Formats: sequence, C-alpha cells, structure tokens
Amino acid sequence: MGLRTYIREHFIEDIRPYKPRSLNKPEKLIEIVSAWKGLELIIGDIVTQFGLPQERCIEFGVEFGYSAVVFSNFFDKVIGVDTFEGDIHTENKTEHFQQTSERLRAFTNIQLVKSDYKDWIASDDTRYNLAHVDIVHNYHDTFECGLWAARHSDCTIFHDTESFPDVRKAVKDIARATGQQLYNYPHHFGLGILVDKKSITKRK
Ligand SMILES: C[S@@+](CC[C@H](N)C(=O)[O-])C[C@H]1O[C@@H](n2cnc3c(N)ncnc32)[C@H](O)[C@@H]1O
Repeated sequence: MGLRTYIREHFIEDIRPYKPRSLNKPEKLIEIVSAWKGLELIIGDIVTQFGLPQERCIEFGVEFGYSAVVFSNFFDKVIGVDTFEGDIHTENKTEHFQQTSERLRAFTNIQLVKSDYKDWIASDDTRYNLAHVDIVHNYHDTFECGLWAARHSDCTIFHDTESFPDVRKAVKDIARATGQQLYNYPHHFGLGILVDKKSITKRK
C-alpha cells in the first residue's frame, strides 16, 4: 500500500487526540485479568470534560466485569450485555454468566443481561449517557452495535482502536455517519470516543 492510500484509509482530518486533564483511580474496582486495565483512570475525566449526565450507562461486552465495575462508580445504573460465551478474539470461550453475576453481586447498580447485542438493540429505545462497545473486534459487528450506541447515547466509547484496525475503521465510519466528533486515546490498546459536537463546547 502506498503512503497516500495508507493515509487516506487510516486518517480522518477530524480525529483528535484525547488528552485527559487528570487521571483518577475510581474507588470500586475488581482484581481480574483484563486488557481494559488502565482506562479506569480516564472515565471520570471523560464524564467531566463532556458534561455527561450520570444516570444510565450501557456496556456491550462485559466478559468478567472489569469495565462494568469501573462504570458503576460513575452512573446510577449500568446495564451490561454479553453472550458470556466469549468470541473468536477472547481466550475464554466457556459460558460464565452465573459466575460473573456472582462476582458482581456486590455492585447492585449493575444489571447483567445474557444476550447477543443484536437481540438487545432490536428492542431497546432508551437513551443512555454513556455507551461502551467492546464486543467481538470485527468491522461488521463493531459498526452495527456502535452505530446503534452512538444514536442512543450522549457519548460512546470503543475499546481496542489501536490493536484492531477493523475497530478503528468502524469507529471512523460511525463518526462520519453520525457527524459526531471522534477522539482517540492511544493507551491501553486504544479508546475511541464519540461525542455530539454540541457537548464539546462544554470542554472549553
Ligand atoms: C474483549 S471482551 C470484553 C472485555 C471487558 N469489557 C473487560 O472489561 O475486560 C469481549 C466480550 O464480548 C462478548 N461478545 C462478543 N460478541 C458478542 C455479541 N455478538 N453480543 C454480545 N456479546 C458479545 C464476548 O462474549 C466477550 O465477553
């Protein structure tokens, strides 16, 4: 691939680096293996910088619950949707809904739902303050789930924008389709952040 083609495919003019103003460790965390570790430090900063209301959060891709517990620090209610069966990119492919529900039992504002994201988005029309997309890291599913999330939430975040080019491409295409502003935080495998351009004025 030539340099020009590479730049055209991998860069959109409007992508901005996300620069946290402060890093803060949330009070509630669980000790579990997760590639998400490190991102807990910027969630409070995202909430503050974009002035997000802190009522409802939805997560697609819970796995063992690391990020869901992080969100439970910041939102009154967190819904976590997952098949709890793993996917082609996860190491664990053994069904673990009961085990994960048990682990997260103390976090009473988290509701876990065993469902494919496709079934969930077909019947939910709720508005969320934050949506997190961290499902199977292919273009098609990230785009479909992420487009629904971007249309139903004030801010949508996507894990693995640095480690999975398909995720990065899907997030860029959702930014184009919705007209939302795209930020990227390059650490901990990358976090794409989409927000309504209106809420950006609150950052200044
Ligand atoms: C990378 S893991 C999520 C990691 C998690 N956010 C954390 O904090 O460590 C991806 C998860 O997405 C789930 N998943 C994959 N495809 C899915 C689908 N179509 N619907 C619902 N969940 C799905 C898998 O079962 C897996 O648990």
